[in-house]
Amino acid sequence: MIELKQVSKQYRVKDRQRSKLKVNAVHQVSLALCYQKSYALVGESGSGKSTLARLIMGIEKPTNGEICLDGRNIALMRSRELRLKRAEVQMVLQNAQSALDPRLSAYDSIAEPIRCLTKTDKSGERSKVFEFAEKVRLTSEQLRRLPHELSGGQQKRVCIARAMSVSPKFIVFDEAVSGLDVTVRKEILDLILQLKKDGIGAFLFITHDIDVALYMADQLFVMKDGSIVEWIENAASYDDFHHEYSRQLIQSLPPKSPNYRKESVNR
Ligand SMILES: Nc1ncnc2c1ncn2[C@@H]1O[C@H](COP(=O)(O)OP(=O)(O)OP(=O)(O)O)[C@@H](O)[C@H]1O
Ligand SMILES: [Mg+2]
Repeated sequence: MIELKQVSKQYRVKDRQRSKLKVNAVHQVSLALCYQKSYALVGESGSGKSTLARLIMGIEKPTNGEICLDGRNIALMRSRELRLKRAEVQMVLQNAQSALDPRLSAYDSIAEPIRCLTKTDKSGERSKVFEFAEKVRLTSEQLRRLPHELSGGQQKRVCIARAMSVSPKFIVFDEAVSGLDVTVRKEILDLILQLKKDGIGAFLFITHDIDVALYMADQLFVMKDGSIVEWIENAASYDDFHHEYSRQLIQSLPPKSPNYRKESVNR
């Protein structure tokens, strides 16, 4: 279980007059994510979603508060323990292209966490890479390519296979489908739901798109200005959102936003 207790993250920035300003990117967030459920975090740009994801992953340290994995505060973990926990909680970053090392083939990108976080031998590594490449529908020929030789959707699939290759209990997807065209988006979303059905990791799906959030998970968090303003269990439709800000998000949806229907995937 991942627990956040009164977690805040403050950045110091300089304004035009070069005077120092504080940005409260995340403000006193408390939540618990268990490995059996899937969650979505929704909020407008700049509301603190990616910062929250980086805090959960231990990439950044909170200014205040505690983050615990299975009851252990990650700030107090030694590097070996943190390494083992990293294998259990993986993340797919917002920008697939910058998340992938331009010098590594798709094969090596997927193999890298296996090499760094587990003690798997070469043949075990090979079978794991091919197993997960098949799950995300990447061919052996595509596995030999460098990131710039792959499409945006294929790069995303490499990132997903890479996160899954160490069999995590939980995956944080940060804007996993933003910037992709509508058909590829749907394909990736369904792939993630299918993987969950196959028992490969529950997830926290971060998005600014309320339709996508509803499609992906039943447990929804709405974030505004660094705080969680609404938590909805078993969300099924717009009617389940009650906070004023959530209603504003719904009202600001474009009239032709893609129509994701939960029943189209056998969850
Ligand atoms: N390294 C940083 N230094 C200073 N300010 C930062 C830093 N990272 C984020 N911020 C600020 O913190 C706030 C939250 O940013 P964050 O990236 O978490 O938002 P987000 O909800 O992920 O937005 P988006 O939907 O655009 O990805 C923003 O005001 C941002 O400018
Ligand atoms: Mg973000």
